[in-house]
Amino acid sequence: MFAAVLTLALACQSAFAAPSPAAKTCSLANAKLALPAGQTGLLAPIAAVPSFVSFAIGVQNYTCSSAGKYTATGAVAEVYDASCLVDTPLFNNVQDIAYGIWKAAPAPITAQDVIAAGAKLGQTFLGRGIASMILGQHYFVTNPTTGTGVVPKWDFTSSGKTAGNKDAFVIGAKTGGIPSPKGATHVDWLSLSGSSGKAAAQVFRTDTVSGQPPASCTPGTPDISVKYACKYWFYGSSL
Ligand SMILES: *[C@@H]1O[C@H](CO)[C@@H](O)[C@H](O)[C@H]1NC(C)=O
Repeated sequence: MFAAVLTLALACQSAFAAPSPAAKTCSLANAKLALPAGQTGLLAPIAAVPSFVSFAIGVQNYTCSSAGKYTATGAVAEVYDASCLVDTPLFNNVQDIAYGIWKAAPAPITAQDVIAAGAKLGQTFLGRGIASMILGQHYFVTNPTTGTGVVPKWDFTSSGKTAGNKDAFVIGAKTGGIPSPKGATHVDWLSLSGSSGKAAAQVFRTDTVSGQPPASCTPGTPDISVKYACKYWFYGSSL
């Protein structure tokens, strides 16, 4: 997986003009969230320019219900800063490239391995004065308000420019969703509002690649994890 992550990082690094200082980020002025024309299921972005734009690879988790249908239980993903890709031809399809690499990774390699390799990769490149692309990690935590159930969190506290800032996270509450315009094999596009943390006041999941479970399951069978990639957009950061 290290090699795969490296390949991806190099593919993305090639878009950079030159080796750059640690945690290089680029202007997001031209980062425009393109939602399907006429859609009403997602809220509009709260600002013209996002605070962070990223692509992610990871898994969507499901458990088999007694009715024989998979229901979502959470996800874990590594989140990469895409700001320096915005003004390049790679930006539109970076999630497809990332998914191709992730899908090809052999079965023993887990999303956690990707995260661990990403951390090492970041250090390696930092040591050479080249930017780390790691923005943070996406995972689920117990709902801090109710103490029950899980809620999605994006955690930027240990990576990039926000490393060490304990407020550099956002916990999201879903405000809307639409089926992927690219087809039913891809998980929904979502809008979420930030319920705690300062990394964002609003989050979007778009350009999803895969992540859907099989249509049915046999009750009692083990939980499954399905690989996916996407873009995550973060608006209204107060960091
Ligand atoms: C998702 O599944 C992976 C194993 O594939 C596990 O490591 C991770 O903790 C799970 N996360 C959630 C929120 O279910």
